[in-house]
Amino acid sequence: MSQLTLEEKAALVSGKDSWYTATIDRLGLAPMMMSDGPSGLRKQLGTPDQTDINESIEAVCFPASALTACSFDREQLNQLGHQLGTAATAEKLGVLLGPGINLKRSPLAGRNFEYFSEDPYLVGELAAAYVKGVQAEGVGVSVKHFAANNRENRRFTSSSNVDERTLRELYLATFEKVVKQANPATIMCSYNAINGTLSSQNRRLLTNILRDEWGFKGLVMSDWGAVADHTAAIKAGLDLEMPGKGDQSVDEIVTAVKNGSLAEADLDRAVSRVLKMIQDWQPADSKQANPYDMEAQHEFARKLATNSFVLLKNENAVLPINKGDKLAVIGELAAHPRYQGSGSSHVNAHRLVTPLETINQVRPDATFVAGYSLTADRIDQAAIAEAVDVAKSADKVIIFAGYPERLESEGFDKTSIDLPANQNQLIEAVSQVNQHVVVVLQNGSAVRTPWADHVAGMLETYLAGEAVGEATWDVLSGKVNPSGKLAETFPLRLEDTPSYLTFDADLQDENYREGLFMGYRYYDKKKQPVQFSFGYGLSYTTFKYTDLQLKVTGDHVSGTVKVKNTGSRSGAEVVQVYVGNRTSQIEKPIKTLANFVKVSLVPGEEKTVSFELDQRAFSWYNPRKADWQVDNGQYDVLIGSSSTDIRLSDTVELDWAPEQQIHIDQSTYIGDLMAQAKFAKAVEQVGLTDVFKKLADDHDPAAKMFRNMPLRAATTMGVTPAKIDKLIEIMNG
Ligand code: BGC
Repeated sequence: MSQLTLEEKAALVSGKDSWYTATIDRLGLAPMMMSDGPSGLRKQLGTPDQTDINESIEAVCFPASALTACSFDREQLNQLGHQLGTAATAEKLGVLLGPGINLKRSPLAGRNFEYFSEDPYLVGELAAAYVKGVQAEGVGVSVKHFAANNRENRRFTSSSNVDERTLRELYLATFEKVVKQANPATIMCSYNAINGTLSSQNRRLLTNILRDEWGFKGLVMSDWGAVADHTAAIKAGLDLEMPGKGDQSVDEIVTAVKNGSLAEADLDRAVSRVLKMIQDWQPADSKQANPYDMEAQHEFARKLATNSFVLLKNENAVLPINKGDKLAVIGELAAHPRYQGSGSSHVNAHRLVTPLETINQVRPDATFVAGYSLTADRIDQAAIAEAVDVAKSADKVIIFAGYPERLESEGFDKTSIDLPANQNQLIEAVSQVNQHVVVVLQNGSAVRTPWADHVAGMLETYLAGEAVGEATWDVLSGKVNPSGKLAETFPLRLEDTPSYLTFDADLQDENYREGLFMGYRYYDKKKQPVQFSFGYGLSYTTFKYTDLQLKVTGDHVSGTVKVKNTGSRSGAEVVQVYVGNRTSQIEKPIKTLANFVKVSLVPGEEKTVSFELDQRAFSWYNPRKADWQVDNGQYDVLIGSSSTDIRLSDTVELDWAPEQQIHIDQSTYIGDLMAQAKFAKAVEQVGLTDVFKKLADDHDPAAKMFRNMPLRAATTMGVTPAKIDKLIEIMNG
């Protein structure tokens, strides 16, 4: 620091270009490279065409986060982190730009495929495991996009207007957990504003909350192009502008320091964090990339996908496919699968294996027809007729359907969750001639499945990565028993979704009017039927839950539950633990996910699964106190195989909060006052026993009306102001 000139400091707080930190040759400070993330490396070499984001080195394309989240498996996400860290180390990267941990607030959000879930607990747990894996390999991460970046349209300027409690309990909670549990090297701020202030210039977000409250020690970089006013950003707590704007970036900062609009101490703080990031994460030899075992990574990608796929429907055990089944394979997506998202997470895949390639290899007698075109929505009656014909003579039909890439990407939002009409029609037509139709879905986010009742089987494979073909067949054929659970709700209609009335409605303001009631928190409370619930997913076997035991200890609740595999195949079940707050008199969801355990069982085997629930599981964020609060009283602990399939439940009584001393004043409600232990004695002393005695009658509407008045209105019952004052004085001791 002491050897740097002002110009050099100014250079360091902006990227040298899109991927490198600045070079200070005079001091031997080499540039450090970063690359996307999060489902494989997108390392761009030389000076690629900036608009060709798909031009990058070859790398293994792992499943997108929309799919990996369905594994509900911390260990697998940790292993994914290790794999990515290994690749990034070999490629001499200092920082991997991921994971993305924003919540899926609306199924229309263009980037949902890159995010994990609608539930903050699930996101936080999986992302923390992933981050630990990457960083254990000596590569830093950039956890993005901080914060409340839940739509793509006008993402550079739109303001996410969110109330404090919702921010804390949902949109900030994912980042809070990852910061506190996994110590990420860097955080990437989002493009959008929050309640009117751009994230890149948001002091409350970048300094007060992130550093002062959560204790974050790493660096904050901007999302690419998110800096509107670099001086304001540095003051607010941003350390690195990405990418840099060359001389202009340097001039801006030098001028600001010289004219006093930026304190050199603020610049120094950012510079020191950039230097520390380079010191901590710069690979030892930053020149030569090393080979690594891409085939082993491909196999891991396959395994991760198979352990994440969600079996949505399996009527009459249509799956797994039997050895002798005569198969018809229908759908362009079998030959040209959607296996990854579009935009900055796009990977130049090492070895794509399509479903059709795999099926052709293992079942050469299977018939294939395209059925629809991916490039046009036109309904091709001839193609449908051909598919129907093929389906008629097949034992089982596998239709590959999904959301086309041209309609779903980073950078813009969707306008519909419907599959193209040519696919929906095809599915309807084929299911009329064959009772054994299985639809395999490839999509980045929840879609509508109006034909769900007409097909026998459904397998959600999201964007499964480069091993999509092998992984899909592994599950269809029963080599792997599916164990994934939906990490987002599939609504019946777009109109049913909690943010339907406001999402993308306004160019500038994105108003989070649904507040806390997002995802299953909304459907649960509204008793709104959905197509598939959060946490839902079938298996080729069945599980039985018994014997829930709960124990409240000093500062947490511990529990055990027995789970038995009651079917005839080995399988894994995700035991979901939800907490319902019966106590606090606040707006609240019916229940929220508070823990989960994935357990593998052979047929007939029973295991006792243990879990812990910490104080946060029972807390709500009280904006008045600017703190988390647990209230004394009863809470439900619910054990589910999904959020709507609760198998066992019990209640715990918590008394963790210090005894609340209620302060009585003129605004205290008479009903609340009457509930106090010392009330009877106090009214006696003031000579008001008779007046208040009448109010105890629950059958008298007038009594109920008076109880629902504050003390100051007791004058309407004929009580003098002097007596009210006296009563308050006595009650307050
Ligand atoms: C994306 C980031 C990404 C960056 C670099 C931005 O457009 O929002 O997620 O890391 O580009 O490619």
